[in-house]
Amino acid sequence: MTTHSTIGILGAGNIGQAVADKAVRHGHEVLIGNSRGPETLQAVVEQLGPKARAVTAEEAAQPDLVFLAVPFFVVPDLTGLTDWSGKIVVDATNQFATANPAEGRYDVGDLTGSEWVAGHLAGARIVKAFNTVFAAFIAADPQHADGRQVIFYAGDDADAKADVAGLLDEFGFAALDLGGLRAGGQLMQLGGPLNGRHLLLQDVG
Ligand SMILES: NC(=O)c1ccc[n+]([C@@H]2O[C@H](COP(=O)([O-])OP(=O)(O)OC[C@H]3O[C@@H](n4cnc5c(N)ncnc54)[C@H](OP(=O)(O)O)[C@@H]3O)[C@@H](O)[C@H]2O)c1
Repeated sequence: MTTHSTIGILGAGNIGQAVADKAVRHGHEVLIGNSRGPETLQAVVEQLGPKARAVTAEEAAQPDLVFLAVPFFVVPDLTGLTDWSGKIVVDATNQFATANPAEGRYDVGDLTGSEWVAGHLAGARIVKAFNTVFAAFIAADPQHADGRQVIFYAGDDADAKADVAGLLDEFGFAALDLGGLRAGGQLMQLGGPLNGRHLLLQDVG
C-alpha cells in the first residue's frame, strides 16, 4: 500500500470540502480546485487550515491520488486536465443529468457511472467511493456511539483499492469492498440498493 501525502480534490463543494477536511485532519496536504479558480476558494482553505491550498483544476489533478467531487455531467471537461494514466481517481459522483436532481439521470447506456467516468480519464485507476452517503455523513466524525460510518468502495485495480481502503481506514471509516466497477458500481450508483444508505458497522469479537 502506498501512502499519499498530497491529495488532489477536484470540486470544492459539499463533498470536496468534507473529504478535504478529513485529509488535512489526518496530516495530508490537500490541493483543492474548482471551475472558477483559486481566488474563489480563499474562505474554504482558510477554514481547512495550512495543509490545504486553493489551486486551479489543472493543479488539483496533478497528485497521484485525486478525488472527483464534481457534478457527473462535467466529467468530460476533465479529460485534458492532466495525463490521467496510472493515477488513482476516487469517484464520488452520482450520475445526475443536470444540477437539478429532479431532471433525472445522465444516460450512460449499459455502463455503470464509474465505467463511464473511466472512459473519460484514460488510464486512471478508478475507485468508486463516497457517493452512497450524504456529504454530512462524510463531514461528521465516523465514530458513532453505535458503530463506524460505512463507506463502500469498488474498483478494478487491486492496488488502487488497497490504497483507498487504507485512506478510508485512516480517516476512521469502516471501508467495505464491493468488488469491481461493474458489480460494485451497480450496487452503489443511483438506483442501486446501497445508494443513499447510511450504515454503521459494529466490530464484534
Ligand atoms: N452532496 C452530497 O451529499 C453528495 C453525496 C454523494 C455524492 N455526491 C456527488 O458528489 C459530487 C459533488 O457533489 P457536491 O454536493 O459536493 O456538489 P457541489 O457542492 O455543487 O460542488 C461541486 C463542485 O464541483 C466544481 N466544479 C464544477 N465543474 C467543474 C469543473 N469543470 N472543474 C473543476 N471543478 C468543477 C464546482 O466548482 P464551481 O462552483 O467553481 O463551478 C464545485 O466546487 C456530485 O457528483 C454529486 O452527485 C454528492
